[in-house]
Amino acid sequence: MSGSVPALELRGIEKRFGAVRANRAVSLTVVAGSVHGLIGENGAGKSTLMNVVYGFHPPDAGEIWVQGRRVEIGRSSDAIAAGIGMVHQHFMLVENFTVLENVLLGAEGGPRLAGGLARARPALEQLGRDYGLEVPLDAIAGQLPVGLQQRAEILKALYRGAQILILDEPTAVLTPQEADRLFGLLARLREQGKSVILVTHKLREIMAVTDRVTVMRQGAVVHETATADTSPPQLAEQMVGRSVLLQVNKPPARPGDALLQVDGLAVSDAFGVPRVKGVTFALRGGEITGIAGVAGNGQTELLEALAGIVAPAAGRIRLAGRDLDGLDPRARRHAGLAHVPEDRLKLGVVASFPAEDNAILGYQDRAEYNRGLLLDRGAIHAGCERKMAEYDVRPPQPGLRCSAFSGGNQQKLVLAREIGSAPRVLLVGQPTRGVDIGAIEFIHQRLVALRDAGAAVLVVSVELDEILGLADRILVMAGGEIVGDLARADATEERLGLMMAGIKADA
Ligand SMILES: Nc1ncnc2c1ncn2[C@@H]1O[C@H](COP(=O)(O)OP(=O)(O)OP(=O)(O)O)[C@@H](O)[C@H]1O
Ligand SMILES: [Mg+2]
Repeated sequence: MSGSVPALELRGIEKRFGAVRANRAVSLTVVAGSVHGLIGENGAGKSTLMNVVYGFHPPDAGEIWVQGRRVEIGRSSDAIAAGIGMVHQHFMLVENFTVLENVLLGAEGGPRLAGGLARARPALEQLGRDYGLEVPLDAIAGQLPVGLQQRAEILKALYRGAQILILDEPTAVLTPQEADRLFGLLARLREQGKSVILVTHKLREIMAVTDRVTVMRQGAVVHETATADTSPPQLAEQMVGRSVLLQVNKPPARPGDALLQVDGLAVSDAFGVPRVKGVTFALRGGEITGIAGVAGNGQTELLEALAGIVAPAAGRIRLAGRDLDGLDPRARRHAGLAHVPEDRLKLGVVASFPAEDNAILGYQDRAEYNRGLLLDRGAIHAGCERKMAEYDVRPPQPGLRCSAFSGGNQQKLVLAREIGSAPRVLLVGQPTRGVDIGAIEFIHQRLVALRDAGAAVLVVSVELDEILGLADRILVMAGGEIVGDLARADATEERLGLMMAGIKADA
């Protein structure tokens, strides 16, 4: 560290939510012109800390210093005035406004908006060119792919003069290509003397792009180091307080009968564009089938059609011989087809409901949760407590509304619900998106255990490492088609990469 003034210094930040001490005397220094990594378990307090810096939560105690000057940050406008920008874990764009309107929201007053729009356009276009942040300024934000929405958020922060940019799990929703692009941007920001705080669960990213890294556990900073002086296993251990298996350990699969049979399945999107173009495959019990592919090649639509969220344009889906045509997700769950949606926060939970209601969502008709005509609240509560203990959902409070849990803990709750329903077939989209490495190890073990109990498991993941680690058999999707079907033993990263790029294997 040079003797220069830090870009940001936090001193003794405290933040409580009721009984939860989300931040405990947190001190952290971000060197000017550096990328600073922030890692820690789900619920460690990372988002809370960043929200304090950005003025979303007033701290209960502590000081924030920017460029050597103490600042009072009571609201986001104070943070922006101090040169702090933030892209949240869950995006904050107003979906039915254009990108340009979103960028200006809050920056310019209402009546001046029209004039502001005209003035801002050239400046934004210039910023876009300087940083490789091209975004269609007149597009409706909600209609853009997530990668572009994120770019719009970053552009917004830079336009407002951010010298310190906070990114909370920015790559959780990106394809590897988009992530590489983002990291290129971080390098440019650093060259310009700006500072970045990167919150992520991916140690690979920490190692690749950060200068220093801070580890949080249970609200407190437990470690800080130069990235060059640490390693993924060390960081993993500091995060969870024990050593973690970074690889999946599993016995060989013993595949049984085909449990889910998919024939000529075709799916079109809301605009009538074909996304899945007549795929045929079967999922066998006792086997984990992975679907590899660059995001946006039909995997999401395939998963949604199998789960009954969207109706296919053509084709047939049979579960142990029974045609599922016309059955909604709940009826499919009843038939033994469980589903962990990729976008769990949109499709997996009702944020305003307590955890215990979310823990039975889709399964509320089961005998175990009912007594006569009424829901058995006692059984539901106890069932949720059990799931929380098993999946280490924190805090273990079934009555707490879902939105009060950290991102990763919400995800664990959905996984607990679906894996815990003991399905015959489990469909999982991005099983470990947003969950910490300790929880990844656990979730992988649970998926393998479900397989070994005879279930068919389908895993869709954009993380090639995850597919290679988990799957016994790998289907590769490109352009809405299955372009490869390989046993795990025959799959190498290179071979899959070629197939994912749409280059068909020659046998
Ligand atoms: N609005 C809130 N009300 C009550 N509790 C909250 C609220 N926001 C966060 N918490 C609690 O504060 C703690 C820290 O949560 P935070 O979201 O900061 O974790 P995180 O480190 O970002 O985790 P993740 O990796 O899962 O995103 C958690 O126990 C969480 O349940
Ligand atoms: Mg978080």
